[in-house]
Amino acid sequence: DPPLRDLAAAKGKIIGTAVTGGKLTGTYADIAGREFNSLTPGNAMKWESVEPSRGTYNWAEADRIVDFAEAHGQQVRGHTLVWHSQNPGWLTGGSWTPAQFSAIVQDHITTEVGRYKGRLAAWDVVNEPFNEDGTYRQSLFYNHLGPDYIAQALTWARAADPDAKLYINDYNVEGVNAKSTALYNLVKSLKERGVPIDGVGLQAHFILGQIPSTLQQNIQRFADLGVDVAITELDIRMQVPATDAKLAQQAADYKAVMNACVAVARCTGVTVWGFTDSDSWIPDFFEGYGAATPYDENFAPKPAYYAIAQSLGGT
Ligand code: G3I
Repeated sequence: DPPLRDLAAAKGKIIGTAVTGGKLTGTYADIAGREFNSLTPGNAMKWESVEPSRGTYNWAEADRIVDFAEAHGQQVRGHTLVWHSQNPGWLTGGSWTPAQFSAIVQDHITTEVGRYKGRLAAWDVVNEPFNEDGTYRQSLFYNHLGPDYIAQALTWARAADPDAKLYINDYNVEGVNAKSTALYNLVKSLKERGVPIDGVGLQAHFILGQIPSTLQQNIQRFADLGVDVAITELDIRMQVPATDAKLAQQAADYKAVMNACVAVARCTGVTVWGFTDSDSWIPDFFEGYGAATPYDENFAPKPAYYAIAQSLGGT
């Protein structure tokens, strides 16, 4: 079979992966460059990574990923500008008036988006703004600026790079539920107000055998609002050790997610959150779980890899 990126391109879709910049050598780099047409920095563009001390920037890993992507004809998805997690200590530990905080966030967005202006296809501008019940998460951003921090962040990002597609990204919004409906209502109202919003990212951190049955319906309702939809962080975790039966179920689950995206024109594509089990957040965060990605720890393709290929028209 041809590489996944060739199959995806023939369907006009993105097949992406999150990457760690420091690992982009050897087999890891070979697979990342050969199989995927989009890269997302897994951590390198987060605020704590790029501005660890106030006014002192570290772009090395982010630059490395963007340079690698350009050398391999790949898109880059920027991740992420405004999030409750992985913020620098100087920001979270400071005491700011709303006006000071607003100026700091504007500066952060203007600086980071501006640095990569014209080079990134999309930005996850706001990440994980909602609680499970659809109310707003009480983040640093919400607490200082109120709910309109979302509209402000999008507006500042648009001003800094008019060509990047601007997204709100969240998890547990893949099926139709209270949280995805809150996101739906937010996007609808942002569009009505003329706030720049181009798409929604459905993270898709799934558990084996638990793909929401309303996934395609949910993608379609966002598409019908007039925004793009991207599956941004797909992985499907299982209790380890993996068995043939679990890997077969995982392949079926990957195929179901891919098929839902392929079926909706405005679903731009699917990014996996790490392509190899050796570069996955799952074992560190979920005790007893792992094997969530399409390649094993030794870079051998798993049944999930072949399922992705099939859903993109491969054999
Ligand atoms: O960089 C330090 C290193 O210096 C230190 O020695 C090591 C010891 O623990 O930690 C390293 O930092 C880790 C970092 O990943 C880089 O590897 C952090 O501890 C660890 O918490 C961090 O985890 C990241 C996680 O976000 C944090 O919330 C994962 O790699 C990353 O994949 C994950 O990604 C998020 C998305 O951004 C948003 N959606 C959910 C997704 C999964 O949590």
